[in-house]
This record gives sequence, C-alpha cells and structure tokens, in this order.
Amino acid sequence: MEEATGVSAAKIILIGEHAVVYGTPAIALPIPSIQLSAHLVPRADGQQLIHSVFYTGTLEDATDAFAGIAKVLRQLLTYFSARTQGFDLTIDSALPPERGMGSSAATATAIVRAVYAAFNTPLPHATLLNWTSVSERAIHGAPSGLDAATTSAQSPQWFVKGHTPQPIHLPQAGVLVIADTGIPGQTKQAVASVAAKLQTDPTRYRPEIDTIDQAVRAAAVALAQNDLPLLGKEMNRAQASLSELGVSSPQLDRLISAARTAGALGAKLTGGGQGGCMIALTQDTETADKVVDAVTEAGATATWIHAFAAEDSRS
Ligand code: PMV
Repeated sequence: MEEATGVSAAKIILIGEHAVVYGTPAIALPIPSIQLSAHLVPRADGQQLIHSVFYTGTLEDATDAFAGIAKVLRQLLTYFSARTQGFDLTIDSALPPERGMGSSAATATAIVRAVYAAFNTPLPHATLLNWTSVSERAIHGAPSGLDAATTSAQSPQWFVKGHTPQPIHLPQAGVLVIADTGIPGQTKQAVASVAAKLQTDPTRYRPEIDTIDQAVRAAAVALAQNDLPLLGKEMNRAQASLSELGVSSPQLDRLISAARTAGALGAKLTGGGQGGCMIALTQDTETADKVVDAVTEAGATATWIHAFAAEDSRS
C-alpha cells in the first residue's frame, strides 16, 4: 500500500427522486465545487484508524452510521490481500451528512478511489459502482444507485435504475440555489413510507409516480431546448407529487415557498426528503442572490449557488 488520495463530489437530484425507485428516470447533477476527499497513509504498526466527522476510531469498532462504509473498506482490503495492513484514513468533507447531497455515496466513492490508487490499480467506472453499491445497500436498504452514479460522475446524468447512466446536456443559463433545512433527511424511512402508500392505496398514489415520470421527461425536453421557465414548472409539478406522497416537510415547504416568492422559476425538495435540502431554479445570479436571502430568512441553515454553466459554486 502507498499513500494515496481519492476524491468525489456532492450531488443533487434535479428531478425524479422516489419515482426512480420504481423504474422511471431521474436527472441528477454532480456539484464539483462541494468536494469530499479520502486520504490513505500506510502505518507500520498494523493499526487501522479512521479519522472523520462521521466516525473516529478503529476499522474494527466502526458501527452504526459508519458500518456500511467500514464494510466496503474491509472487503476492499481483503480483495487486495491486505486485510491486516495498518493505515490512517482521513476523510475531509464539505458535504453536509444526511441532507440528500450524497454524502454516504461520496464517502464510499472517495475511499474506493483512494484504495485502488494506494495499490496502483486502474479502477474502471463499473467496478467503482459495484464497490459503492456494497455500502449503499448496507446504509439505504435497496437504493436505486443514483447517488453512487452521480457522486462519481463528471457531468449531469440521466439515470434509470439498472441501466448505465447517460450524460445529459444543461443550458448555459440557469442558476440553482441549494438550501439546507438543517434537519437530517430520512431517505430510508421516506422510501419505505412511499412503498407502503403504493401498496395500501395504489389508485391514489400510483398516479403521483406517473406524474413525476412525465415531469422528468418534460424537464429533459426543457433542458435540451434551454427552456428554464418550463424546467421550473416541471420542478414544481414534481414537488406537488412528492408532497402528496408524504415526503416533503413543513421546513422544506417553507423554504420552497420563500424561494418561489423571491422569484425562483421552480423549487422542490431534493433527495429523500422529510428533511434535508431543497433546490430552486433561477434565471440568473441576481435572482439567485435574492432567493438565498429569502430562504435564509425562512430558516435555511446553509446555502450553495450552482450555475449550470460553471463548474463552480459558492457557499
Ligand atoms: O436522499 P438521497 O440523496 O440519498 O436520495 C434518495 C433518492 C431516492 O430516489 C428517494 C431513493 C433512491 O434510492 O433513489
């Protein structure tokens, strides 16, 4: 093992969450300016130590929130015949955990990249996704795989469960505001609650999945035609269905409403919901700044701006 670093980025789901679990498409974007890195340094004394905001301690003792990540790390070490190799693994993250920005998938992605680099081994993308699915399954139950695909991607992705994600074009104009409610998202519970609703009352809830499906397809057309007002409208349509499916929250609703009043073309929750983050689409940076002020006033604990045109966002 050699000293090595792996990096990954935050992601947001532009549109399509929850319905994507049932085979419909979703559009997700990596946010390259919000980064996570995993730095691996070999130790001669055989100790396997992890240093991060999520967990600090030995690999052996890692449980709870870090158990899924520890599982993939143990399997990686076994794969490289280095199960007893000592190391310090330091994870530095600008991603808020449990906010629907792909923190767990980004952590796994950066670790897999660091370990492969530490053993001087090329890492095909499909192999990376296989490894990250080990921890994502342990953490989220039955994830669609969208988080892992996007936190390791270089460009926006059109994602359908079980298929290779396809890069998708974004307009030059358009600025997203991402705002954190400050409340941890509940992806696993939210996915389970949607499943329960679909089972008990399919006549009422199945049409909401179909509406999200239509909104995602219309959003793709809007992106291809640089039609930001249409994209905003489709984001609002998806939000109405997500709300009907019970995965919004009063805090998300407050930020979404504040963003729309401040001039956003559309606003919705992003990720699993029931907490976590919302996103708002604006025409330009001036409106984005107004939306940032409005959502901050409405209680957002953190905000980010991501221009479609730029590989750049600011906090
Ligand atoms: O909360 P996040 O960012 O992990 O996103 C979850 C997205 C869902 O569609 C709700 C679930 C999934 O596995 O795709």
